[in-house]
Amino acid sequence: MQKRFRSIVVLTGAGISAESGLGTFRDKDGLWTKYDLQEVATPEGFARNPVLVHDFYNARRKNLVEATPNAAHYALAELERRFDGQFLLVTQNVDDLHERAGSTRLLHMHGELLKIRCESCDSVRVWRGDLDLATACPDCGTSGGLRPHVVWFGEMPLYMDDIAAALDTCDLFVSIGTSGQVYPAAGFVAEVRRGGLAHTVELNLDPSDGFSLFAEKIYGPATEVVPAFVTRVLAGG
Ligand code: OAD
Repeated sequence: MQKRFRSIVVLTGAGISAESGLGTFRDKDGLWTKYDLQEVATPEGFARNPVLVHDFYNARRKNLVEATPNAAHYALAELERRFDGQFLLVTQNVDDLHERAGSTRLLHMHGELLKIRCESCDSVRVWRGDLDLATACPDCGTSGGLRPHVVWFGEMPLYMDDIAAALDTCDLFVSIGTSGQVYPAAGFVAEVRRGGLAHTVELNLDPSDGFSLFAEKIYGPATEVVPAFVTRVLAGG
């Protein structure tokens, strides 16, 4: 059992949460077809119109607290629990559905929607409700300096050293529900392939931009293909 792989890195994107009712970004009806990402997901957009940016993230926080994890999130939590080697789940998602499904070895490289950060004192706090310009920082008392603890375009993703170390040593890399259009995550498969030893797998609804770099590809809804793949890995296949 489970002898084939010793170290697994899983990368997830918005597609894994699509069947939980959270919209993806670039699909038909995706968030970036309705909102201008330059206005709501960049530091410059926030400086220009903080009210618009707060409204956007307030709406997303509300959607998230009403959503629940799906079979794909639960399957990855089970993989973490039952796999007897190294395991790391790296997510581009700012939702907390992986945690709610039971994942713990998890890095949110694009930040977390249910946290806020104070630009004055840098403190990070859990925040489930609305945020506006009048909200005072619970730590330093400054008003107007709070922002969502998410990584915007033009900002550095989080945990990159830990992620690079895991990619260097994994022997299975699995990319789930991501279009492969946003770097650095889109470059992880190439980084893993440079080591030459890892098996690389894409699980997605449609081929991603980098699909040809994966040794194995399985296409279908995450709630179907992820549990089936996890069963196979745990059986040593
Ligand atoms: P995208 O919206 O770019 O891509 C979503 C992917 O999920 C697509 O390849 C779809 O085919 C796939 N998909 C849709 N429904 C699915 C389902 N039910 N099962 C499996 N796959 C499905 O989202 P991401 O690749 O996550 O960053 O986007 C990457 C980053 O761009 C995000 O983290 C966000 C965004 O702008 C920031 O905001 C910094």
